[in-house]
Amino acid sequence: LFVKELVESAGRLTRVPSKYVFETTKSDDCMVVDPVSEPETIKIPIIDYSLMTSGNPDQRSQVINELRNACLEWGFFMVINHGVGETLRDELMRATESFFDLSMEEKLKYTGKKLFDPIKCGTSFNPNVEKSLLWRDYLKLLVHPHFNAPHKPSHFSKILQEYSKKTREMASELLKGISESLGLDENYINEKMGVESEKWTQVLVANMYPPCPQPELSIGLPPHSDHGLLTILMQNDPSILGLQVLHNAKWVPIHPLPNSFLVNTGDHMEILTNGKYKSVVHRAVVNNKTTRISIGTAHGPPLDKIVSPAPELLANGVGTQLSLPAYRGIKYRDFLELQQSKSLNGKSC
Ligand code: SIN
Ligand code: FE2
Repeated sequence: LFVKELVESAGRLTRVPSKYVFETTKSDDCMVVDPVSEPETIKIPIIDYSLMTSGNPDQRSQVINELRNACLEWGFFMVINHGVGETLRDELMRATESFFDLSMEEKLKYTGKKLFDPIKCGTSFNPNVEKSLLWRDYLKLLVHPHFNAPHKPSHFSKILQEYSKKTREMASELLKGISESLGLDENYINEKMGVESEKWTQVLVANMYPPCPQPELSIGLPPHSDHGLLTILMQNDPSILGLQVLHNAKWVPIHPLPNSFLVNTGDHMEILTNGKYKSVVHRAVVNNKTTRISIGTAHGPPLDKIVSPAPELLANGVGTQLSLPAYRGIKYRDFLELQQSKSLNGKSC
């Protein structure tokens, strides 16, 4: 049963069914930052995308600096003035809601069982290895290099295709900036990761977190890091809090700026940069008032690409990175399999 249907069928649900009580060792859980006493801790880096692409070299190098600091200190930043229209974002959000509003029967057609099924709709993350269920329904689509989408609602596929393309463009620009911030040629990552040859992987995940009667007992997504290079995320209403990022051993609740994108570095960025830019651990908590929907696109190398630390970052040290590779090369496909075979728990891979 999907969480959405559970909530709707129960009339007024006052307690979380025991399967959804998240088993965590509270004692070693980190604190959530208090915005009143620690306002400095919640200053999330903001990247003005328009300054990076304006053609003004001074503005660009300023933004590259900000990207470097954001990647070094947070692994997370907000992107504003990105040029992705509000209309497209709204249309995607509405179509996603309509998808989750389809009957169980319709949605069950997409409950793929295999990891690389191109369209998968379900609940929880990986019920086979997860001890408790998550307060989350999801739709996961492989959208590049081959585009896949459900046929219903009728206009969903077209909007998804447009949105995937726009976020790929943004990811590719950001990867150029990140390459530069590492002292590499701006096309370095794009060339190495099959972006230029259009062979890279893009996965789109829509998460729906219905209101939860006991939000402190359940979790939407437990602490994890993302597998790819960069994830770009948007959510339905910026006033609904849910995403928390682990920063200096504390959970920082993210208040998105209206119309912004939330971007984080993934495990393959950490591997490629030999640990200079770490993938950031984050989680999604739930609330008892409103449904939160987030839509993320994860961008990674081609599935058959073996990624190892970049030799250029080992030899002629920019900054303080290690001179020996700290990660062994692994095929992206194998990394994904490894990640899915474990229950999500921080950087379990
Ligand atoms: C995710 O980590 O993939 C999604 C987090 C969110 O819903 O904000
Ligand atoms: Fe994530």
